[in-house]
Amino acid sequence: MRGLKCSAASFALKLKIILVIVSIAIGLFACTSGKTGRSGIVIADSSSYEASIYRQNCAICHGAEANGKMVDGTMVPSLRFGDAAKKSKEEIFQQIAHGKLPMPSFENQLSEKEMQQMVRFIIEDLQGRKYSKNSK
Ligand code: HEC
Repeated sequence: MRGLKCSAASFALKLKIILVIVSIAIGLFACTSGKTGRSGIVIADSSSYEASIYRQNCAICHGAEANGKMVDGTMVPSLRFGDAAKKSKEEIFQQIAHGKLPMPSFENQLSEKEMQQMVRFIIEDLQGRKYSKNSK
């Protein structure tokens, strides 16, 4: 009788230990499975129109994931962090439309609407900042 009680108690204890281990494992998985650990999207995984414009026109200099890159001895800045993340909608639009050497102007390659879409893409999807059509 005593032995039976004891093994029931140790079974319950084992069950508790297993539950704790499983919940730690789930917690760890949830924390590490976020691909970038940042607020921005993974461009390579995105099928949005803006992501495809980015891959065709911008990735060559700003890097596949917009984290910046060395091109011909010049450091092309990240579009996720740093100065880019402090710029207003208007400043980003001007940068894309008119460029700033060595970045070319895109006003002959992209439509006005596409350039606006890229501004939203950079602010909202890459930087995780709030974007609203009507704000500055
Ligand atoms: C030929 C290379 C090149 C290409 C292509 C290019 N850029 Fe740039 N871009 C640069 C460089 C270099 C700078 C930094 C210019 C400077 O000194 O201010 C820059 C700066 C920027 C900035 C301002 C970043 C900051 O830190 O303030 C934005 C926004 C930007 N680019 C967006 C884009 C977008 C969107 C595209 C695609 C439509 C694109 N760029 C394509 C080279 C490029």
